Amino acid sequence: MKILIIGNGGREHALLWRMAADRPETKFLITRGTPGTEDLAESIDVSPTDILTLVDAALAHEVDLTVVGPEAPLAEGLVDRLHERGLAAFGPTAAAARIETSKAFAKNLMRQAGVPTAGFEIFTGLQQALDYVSAGPEGCVVKADGLAAGKGSVVCRSREEASRALHLMMHDRAFGAAGETVVVEELMAGEELSVLALVDGQNILTLVPSQDHKAVGEGDTGPNTGGMGAYAPVGVATQKLIAQVSSEIMEPVVAALKEAGCPYRGCLYAGLMLTAGGPQVVEFNCRFGDPESQVVLPLLDGDLVSLLEAVSAGSLAGMQAGTLPDKAAVCVVLASGGYPGDYAKGKPVRFGPGLSGRQDLVVFHAGTVRGDGQVVTAGGRVLGVTGLGGNVELAAAAAYSGIEEISFEGKYFRRDIGYREIERIRRQR
Ligand code: AMP
Ligand code: GLY
Repeated sequence: MKILIIGNGGREHALLWRMAADRPETKFLITRGTPGTEDLAESIDVSPTDILTLVDAALAHEVDLTVVGPEAPLAEGLVDRLHERGLAAFGPTAAAARIETSKAFAKNLMRQAGVPTAGFEIFTGLQQALDYVSAGPEGCVVKADGLAAGKGSVVCRSREEASRALHLMMHDRAFGAAGETVVVEELMAGEELSVLALVDGQNILTLVPSQDHKAVGEGDTGPNTGGMGAYAPVGVATQKLIAQVSSEIMEPVVAALKEAGCPYRGCLYAGLMLTAGGPQVVEFNCRFGDPESQVVLPLLDGDLVSLLEAVSAGSLAGMQAGTLPDKAAVCVVLASGGYPGDYAKGKPVRFGPGLSGRQDLVVFHAGTVRGDGQVVTAGGRVLGVTGLGGNVELAAAAAYSGIEEISFEGKYFRRDIGYREIERIRRQR
């Protein structure tokens, strides 16, 4: 069997690592592989958004399944083009991916399906939007409709801030066409939770809930990043809560997408706010979360390849995607100093001898390349170090001990990943 993975970040390394561990006899290919993937997969030098060349490569290599990691190729219709050529793919069509690529589409779908989410209005004209926020409450969230590399949502504490955000998106076009349409929504308060589910068009298997840390600074302060770390499981995500998320959120949305003529096949990621009134949707993503996948996939009890194939074939019914019992995972991201602003690239990365033979540690590569034979930094997020242990506190200790073995100039990381859960564990003692 041959599997092609699209993307080359930490999420794609985690997908590859997990599939290769389950299926040692399978041949893997990956787009623009990193030093972290070179022992596991053959690298093909094609951009993840060069759709036509990717389809040609999948045909030429006689690939049995293409697994799409990032949202950009999904938005561009990679899965649609693969299907047209009779090729199997894991990931939604462009129409189904609108659940992430258009916030207005997602909000309308939720409204129609009765899914709990913040109240909202959609605007295509600046003046109407300005009038709306000036007549509304002091706080709100202004969101660009389209993809904006995770920067398109502005949480505004005042009407003044909201009007600045609207000008930025609709007048200055800070996010280009993505900001032509804007969603203004109510502020929600609570703890956030990421719930990833495998969906085959109809059947849904929820994976272990996780939490990510988006802010660059400790205590969740400073600007948002692509994610500075994640952990799973999450104590507040009880069986009861997950059952509620399934029945009130996942099932109605999957049914509504099917009803709308764009059945969803792939990983459906619900970003939730656990409000006093119950879980509400902050956003949907049409792919595995990153860094969430770097904690969720190591905890999966099951064969990932079989699950992804079943999603693609629409045959998930009767399958299980369990979670390893009594195990937790914590992923700490090692970033380049200055990220999410400007940062240096090309810094050599040294891996100490203490990393070898560790069963409680996996190092996923997010932004590295091989230069002159050595591993060098090539992105803002460089590595994801995932520690495993009997609970989140022990898993965090494993991750942080591994980090001491890794060095590069400007190495930056948060020292408090998983802190909410660790506080919960300590309170229970
Ligand atoms: P999004 O781009 O929709 O994922 O939003 C990015 C972040 O903004 C989320 O992870 C939340 O922390 C915050 N956020 C988004 N929408 C809301 C909301 N309605 N109320 C409060 N915070 C929000
Ligand atoms: N961790 C947030 C995301 O994957 O979008």
